[in-house]
Amino acid sequence: MLSNVVASQTVHEKYGGVVPELASRSHHRTITGVTSQALLEADIGVSDLDAIAVTQGPGLMGSLLVGLSFAKGLSLTHRIPLYGVDHIDAHIYANFIEKTPASPLVCLTVSGGHTQLVYVEAPFSHTLLGKSRDDAAGEAFDKIGKILGLPWPGGPEIDRHSQKGDPEFHRFPRSMLNRGYEFSFSGLKTSVLYYVQEKGEGFVCEHMDNICASVSAAIVEVLISKLEMAAMEHGVGTILLAGGVSANTMLRERARQMAERMGVTLLVPRMEYCTDNAAMIAITGAMKGEVSRPDGLGLKPYARRPEG
Ligand code: KG4
Ligand code: ZN
Repeated sequence: MLSNVVASQTVHEKYGGVVPELASRSHHRTITGVTSQALLEADIGVSDLDAIAVTQGPGLMGSLLVGLSFAKGLSLTHRIPLYGVDHIDAHIYANFIEKTPASPLVCLTVSGGHTQLVYVEAPFSHTLLGKSRDDAAGEAFDKIGKILGLPWPGGPEIDRHSQKGDPEFHRFPRSMLNRGYEFSFSGLKTSVLYYVQEKGEGFVCEHMDNICASVSAAIVEVLISKLEMAAMEHGVGTILLAGGVSANTMLRERARQMAERMGVTLLVPRMEYCTDNAAMIAITGAMKGEVSRPDGLGLKPYARRPEG
């Protein structure tokens, strides 16, 4: 990996969530500079590129259009093959940056927009085992962070507090624990809201670490239990974590314990490859390039995948 430049958008913080129009404008402002910086850090020129990989979806349409238009322009001007990459697949392949995990495997992808259990028979041969019916795990962390009065995004904040807290301080519901591979996190969010209303602000501030640890335990326990079930049912020797929430300390630790118990290999991306990044798009594009022809300039963005 020669360079991996990330431009995070702080403009959304004061709104407590991503504002799509601001996201695409900010993308538009930074994309040229970020690309130049990536080339500079890699110490190469555009003409050294064998291929360009770009996120095709899912995501916010405005931001996807900015990236796709820029990539197409670069591809056309410099005659470089272009590959459209699926953002959620790319989270899985973030695990392939440093080594090639043995297939078949089971991957738990947990991000701000998706919570999915996927059986990967071989690269690009995926079966969706289950997903969230409502909020994604990251979305649950972020919404609960808001309810607790923490800065946005709530995921890393709740993680930070959890590390000093007692996960058994309060037992929040473990939604759909014994119901196959489907997830649901909106009930947990409501339960935290009622808890905060009942206990009051002073109590919540005083016990923030314990409450955060209890919330994390409720989310992580469900994720781990379904991941374990999937790994057992499919008899795989490798399990992966992927997506922004795979940066979570409790999730990483409980997954490590589970893998040890089961005698399987666990792979988790390095921190900088967990949340959205260019490296995971590049590796997926490179892998795609080995098995398929480049996409043309007709490449179209999609906000959602057909299966959600
Ligand atoms: O994959 P990602 O960067 O973007 C999407 O594709 O959505 O994931 C972002 C999500 C956010 O919801 C953020 O709160 C969550 O990942 N996240 C975490 C942690 N770091 C990021 N959630 C829990 N613990 C963390 N340490
Ligand atoms: Zn993502």
